[in-house]
Amino acid sequence: MMYMIMNSSPRKDKNCDFIRDEIIRLLKNNNIEYKVYNIRDMKLEFCDDCGYCKHKLGCIKNDDFKNLYNEFNQSSGCIVISPVYFDSVPAKLKLIIDRLQAIYASKYIHNKSLIDRNKKRNGFLYAIGGSKSYETQFLGLQIPMNFFFRAINTKLISSFYYDNTDQKKIDFMRIEDSLNILLKNIEN
Ligand SMILES: Cc1cc2nc3c(=O)[nH]c(=O)nc-3n(C[C@H](O)[C@H](O)[C@H](O)COP(=O)(O)O)c2cc1C
Repeated sequence: MMYMIMNSSPRKDKNCDFIRDEIIRLLKNNNIEYKVYNIRDMKLEFCDDCGYCKHKLGCIKNDDFKNLYNEFNQSSGCIVISPVYFDSVPAKLKLIIDRLQAIYASKYIHNKSLIDRNKKRNGFLYAIGGSKSYETQFLGLQIPMNFFFRAINTKLISSFYYDNTDQKKIDFMRIEDSLNILLKNIEN
């Protein structure tokens, strides 16, 4: 079993990092293997629709995404932790989503999926918004993230949303329930 923990906050030691560290602690305490991806530290080029994946399997770009295709495939699941930026995902997370075009093309153009479509994988989403709750706060993040999990053939089990983080920092009390849900589902 190996879980991917993908953190898309560009800021160190803030709310997303706090959640990441609590998830790490939970997985460690339960002897569950994991890999952490702080995408702020990754060298990633954006998809420029070069056309490579339309003609060949995979992506031609030689950056830190190279291993990700295989790691998505091998993983038992993926836990994404992301801030809301302008009601949407931060740009570098969108970059990751766009690079999944190589997987999309492998399925629907080449009929030779880069990802095992029958493997069971669990997905979890933590989304953090700085403002007090408002109607559209998480809407623009939900849509691409649903697509993200679908593209990597991972079932989105639970999404956890936290607002008002600019006033009230995330603490253990706020996320405790989510950690219990996470563990229960991972162990099943
Ligand atoms: C460029 C930018 C755009 C943001 N847009 C929103 C927004 O649309 N809605 C919201 O609730 N918070 C917004 N925020 C606030 C962040 O979601 C909030 O500060 C969050 O805690 C950031 O996560 P972090 O603490 O892990 O860095 C924005 C912050 C930045 C820097």
